[in-house]
Amino acid sequence: MTKITTPDILERLVSLCKRRGFIFQSSEIYGGTGSVWDYGPLGVELKKNLKDRWWNSMVRMRDDIEGLDAAILMHPRVWEASGHVGGFVDPLVDCRNCKKRFRADEPRIKGTPGTPEAQCPVCGMKGTLSEPRQFNLMFKTFMGPVEDTAATVYLRPETAQGIYVNFLNVQQSTRQKVPFGIAQIGKAFRNEITPGNFIFRTREFEQMEMQFFVEPGTDMQWFDYWKEQRMRWHQSLGLDPARLEFHEHTKDELAHYARRAFDITFDFGGTLGFQEIEGVHNRGDYDLSRHQEYSGKKLEYFDQPNNRRFLPYVVETSAGADRTVLALLVNGYREEEVAGEEEGRTVLALHPSLAPIKAGIFPLVKKDGMPEMATRIANDLRPYFPVFHDESGAIGRRYRRQDEVGTPFCITVDGQSVADGTVTVRDRDTLRQERIAADRLRDYILERVVA
Ligand code: GAP
Repeated sequence: MTKITTPDILERLVSLCKRRGFIFQSSEIYGGTGSVWDYGPLGVELKKNLKDRWWNSMVRMRDDIEGLDAAILMHPRVWEASGHVGGFVDPLVDCRNCKKRFRADEPRIKGTPGTPEAQCPVCGMKGTLSEPRQFNLMFKTFMGPVEDTAATVYLRPETAQGIYVNFLNVQQSTRQKVPFGIAQIGKAFRNEITPGNFIFRTREFEQMEMQFFVEPGTDMQWFDYWKEQRMRWHQSLGLDPARLEFHEHTKDELAHYARRAFDITFDFGGTLGFQEIEGVHNRGDYDLSRHQEYSGKKLEYFDQPNNRRFLPYVVETSAGADRTVLALLVNGYREEEVAGEEEGRTVLALHPSLAPIKAGIFPLVKKDGMPEMATRIANDLRPYFPVFHDESGAIGRRYRRQDEVGTPFCITVDGQSVADGTVTVRDRDTLRQERIAADRLRDYILERVVA
């Protein structure tokens, strides 16, 4: 197996993702939009499978978490209450000469920005960098026909706030009792100053967030519980446990809302190394108390058995769907030699439950009833999982094309199939072939692709 370093992997993944229809640059024919990506036919399936696994484990499999789909646009006061209008900022410097912008802590800047010695890392001029100024990462737009400050609304920078403002709606309509959680998956937007590394840091992305409401005093227990649960979930996706680690936030790293926080980090290798894919935060009663203050509406929970009211604390789990997709791609990408063959193969070793296509179906040759039987099998299996039916080219090449997109099984219809109703099933990872009755295919594959 050839070992590939991360800069290479990212380059090769960008190329594979475009060539095979996983991910395209947004508005590519216009030269592209900065750090925004579109998911193609295979990418949308992969990301959907990931989101389904999250939703199943967080909502469907539990009776103490409810689902929600709150709107992206919210009342502008939400973002004052949440602290994002005042606190969601990065220090930014401009170069007066080349007009480029950087985060003030950009390591390539030599000297202190705003002083004559400071040197622009792009054009190399000295003394042209401005003093750092605070730059808010929220995208603004206008609601209604008048574009003035009174009509300003924001694209949400996290999905969490939609959950807090609906806390009592969900609790009262479902009659849940604390402790319980609310989960949602949705788009978030941040005008990042230094986006990049493909889909690692983008300006439009999807989050999978869950806020767990608990009685004050029990928050650290729940925090530890969720930390472990979330790590286990990432391992269950097939991410190599040796590439997953916790990173606890220092006082300086803690977000404005957090009492304590751990990142679950994945080793992307190369220059990226270990990076956050999910945050687990103890947010205390910061959010509910701020919304209570700013809205003037009580958000207390009524604890009926004890006849008392209190403001719950929140333990949050916040994962990035796109960043986890990137971790899955990096984790699964391999270039391998194949014994007895000159050409090696590229494999995307995705967990079968996440693979966009579950089975490739091929007639060995285009005659003697094989294409007809392959078509019948494809039509029989299609209602149960995505399949790809391919009749063209050498069989080895058809296998290779499926390996490269992570298809766990390839079914081949040969001369014997037509005679006795059996087919061969090739396993992507072991390359072993098994002959089974065609009418067992559905169960055989379902058993292996359902998480
Ligand atoms: N509600 C808490 C929150 O938003 P965060 O640590 O800022 O916490 C959570 O974000 C997750 O969202 C991150 O672990 C990451 O996976 C994803 N994320 C954040 N910013 C991102 C960006 N610009 N591009 C892609 N994913 C991002």
